[in-house]
Order: sequence, then C-alpha cells, then structure tokens
Amino acid sequence: MLPFTIKYRTRKINDIVGQDIAIKKLKNFVADFKRQRKNAAFVYGPSGVGKTASVHAIANELNLEILEVNASDVRNTEQINSLIGSAVFQRSLFFRSKIILLDEIDGISGAEDRGCLQAIAKLIEKNPFPIILTAANPWSHNFSALRRKSELIEFAPLDYLPIFKILKKICENEGIKHEDDILKGLARRTGGDARAAINDLETLTIDTKELTKKSLEELSERNKEESIINALFKIFKTTDANVAITAFDNVKENLDEQLLWIDENLPYEYKKPEDLANAYDKLSKADIFSRRIKRWQHYRFLIYINALITAGIAVSKKERYYHHVQYKPTGKLLKLWWAKQKSMKKKAIAEKIAEKTHSSIKGIIKDTLPYLQEAFKRNKKFREELTEELELSREEVEWMVK
Ligand SMILES: Nc1ncnc2c1ncn2[C@@H]1O[C@H](COP(=O)(O)OP(=O)(O)OP(=O)(O)O)[C@@H](O)[C@H]1O
Ligand SMILES: [Mg+2]
Repeated sequence: MLPFTIKYRTRKINDIVGQDIAIKKLKNFVADFKRQRKNAAFVYGPSGVGKTASVHAIANELNLEILEVNASDVRNTEQINSLIGSAVFQRSLFFRSKIILLDEIDGISGAEDRGCLQAIAKLIEKNPFPIILTAANPWSHNFSALRRKSELIEFAPLDYLPIFKILKKICENEGIKHEDDILKGLARRTGGDARAAINDLETLTIDTKELTKKSLEELSERNKEESIINALFKIFKTTDANVAITAFDNVKENLDEQLLWIDENLPYEYKKPEDLANAYDKLSKADIFSRRIKRWQHYRFLIYINALITAGIAVSKKERYYHHVQYKPTGKLLKLWWAKQKSMKKKAIAEKIAEKTHSSIKGIIKDTLPYLQEAFKRNKKFREELTEELELSREEVEWMVK
C-alpha cells in the first residue's frame, strides 16, 4: 500500500491547486526560455506547497527531460560540475530539451559550501537550459549572487480551501467517511502545508476509513502551539528533567528567541544565588553551542542546546519557587539582537562589494564601507548608481543612509 502522498502525488499542472500565478510565471520562464533576461528561476516558499511538484508537472506538460539534483547530495564543487556541468554542455542525445532542477539549495548554505554556490552561479551564466533552484528561504546572504542571476518566483503557503479540495478528492477516492466541516478543520491546521495535511488525513483514517471530530481534536491537542510563557513556566516551576525537556517542542519562537526569553526572566524566578549561578552556567553553555552551530553548521549540537535550556535549567534549582512571576518579553536583549541583525546587513552589503572588487569582506567593512556610506548619503547620483550596481535592497539602502 502506497502512502497517500505518493499515491496522490501531482502529475499535471491542473493537479496543483492554489498556485496559479507562480505556476504561470514558472511555465512561461521555461517555455519561453530563449527570451528570458535571466538564465535561472529561483522558486521559494515553505514546505509542502507544490514547489518541486510544479517543476515536474511543467516538465511533463512541455515534454522536457528533468535533470534533478537534490542539493543535500552535493558536497563540493567537483560534484556540482560533474553532475550539472556535463549535462549543461552535452546536449541531450535526442535533442530533447531539459530542465535542470537544483532542489532545496538551503542544504548548501553553510560557510564551507561557498564554493558550491559559486559553482552554481557560474553554471547559470552560460547555460543553454533553464535552471530552477528551490529553497524555503531565499534571503540568506549566501544566496545573494544566485538571487541576482535568477528570476524570483514565490510559492505562498496555501489557503485552507485549496487544501480542503485536495483532501476531499482523496477522501472520495478512498471511500473515507467524513463531514466537510471537519475536513476543513483538518485543512486549516497545517498552516498552508498540503503535504502535512495529506499525511494527517492518512494517519487519522488509516484504521477506520472515517474522519471523526474526536480524532481531529486529539490531533490538535497533540500538536497545539504552546505559548512561550507556558514553556517558561514548565521549565522554571519543575525540578523534573522529563517534564522540562519537551517545553520548547511546540513553541513558534526560534532558538535565539528562546535563549533571550530565558535570559531575561531567569533572575526574576530563581532567587538563590547558587541556583542562579547554576542556571546561567547552563545557559551560557547553550549559547556557546549555538554560536558553534552558526559558525560551523554543527546541527547535532541543537539537541544539547535544547537539553541545557530545558532540563538543565530546571534542575539547576534545589527546589521550586512558589512565588508568582509575570514572565516578560525581552526588552533590552531584543535591542541587542536587532543591533546584531543590522550588522548582518552591513556584512551583506560588504559581501556584494567584495564580490565586485575581489577583495576581502573584512577589509571592505573596515576601509571602504565608511567612505562609501558618506558618499552615498551626500551624492544623489552616486547613490543611484551604487544602488543599481550592487542591486541593494530597500533595507540595505536604509542602512547605508542611516
Ligand atoms: N499546491 C498543491 N496542490 C496539490 N497538491 C499539492 C500542492 N502542494 C503540495 N501538494 C502535495 O504535496 C506533495 C509535496 O509537494 P512538493 O513536493 O511540491 O512540496 P514542496 O513545496 O517542494 O515542499 P518542500 O519544500 O518540503 O520540498 C505533492 O506531491 C502533492 O501531493
Ligand atoms: Mg520540494
């Protein structure tokens, strides 16, 4: 028995719902490739909304071959060049044209993967076939060169009605008993991810061939998003590591934010100096790990970080505090964090200049950028020319004139 996501995978453009504009753009890009200004399309959007599926459907409809490379399979420049490079330069045996799909390039955004991204950028330049890149987040500064060389095409999260339509069809095909309202409820809860919704439907009906209100409620209960305040409450008020460890599993705040929330509220909760010292010790270790992740992409550290900031913090106290604390969002820390975001902008601009001038990013930040910034503020013509030359975004221009 095939899983629903495979059995009902889309094949034709008409099977894909709710992405009409994006698909039209993408199809036009491929069909009319000769007349495109850019040699690649950069398809982006969250998981399970039809990015990969659309590329396949379009290829199908236009009768094109697809050369698909999942980016997580390539680790170095040679691999990129041998996988794609050869395909690019040796035309198809029967002169059938093709699409080159580099799927999920977020997988190669690490610092050590720079070479790969550069190799891709180079391939894009002289290339007789349309190249399609996909990623969840195209805005990473590592992708700036690729973004500039590509036509950006957004796949938005799906509205619940298109998802409902997909689920309805499956129900009818499988003879799954259901009420439309409950099915709509199911369609709503995955936040626009069709694949997740299809999987949920399968899980809930696999034994009974029926979608009941009760099973849907249980599912919602299991995956309910938890507020960060609740998560803090769990960690701070228990001394049981097992209770604490899952605290952040269902919060929407990311790791950086979790760290800030704990940091901000810890001293209001833990009053004994010894407890506080222990807890901050755990937190600082988590912070070190988190930096290592950012620097070296050591994602396996995530698991330690989570243990440290949940169970670790929970068992840092001898006994629980019974006082009432109103946990607050991060004020001062949030500002620090924003400052860091700004310095990221600086780095992104410096990167663009470094690329054009073949110099080091560090050197640019120190020696060139301050002068450019002054000139940028004072001289309108210079401002316009530089903005165009570096293709500065609105935020980057704002940073330059601040
Ligand atoms: N817009 C859609 N219309 C119909 N079915 C869809 C749609 N989006 C996703 N699906 C279903 O979900 C499956 C997965 O979609 P797809 O592989 O295109 O996701 P994706 O956007 O590439 O996600 P990821 O970023 O996780 O790779 C499809 O095979 C199809 O069954
Ligand atoms: Mg995909």
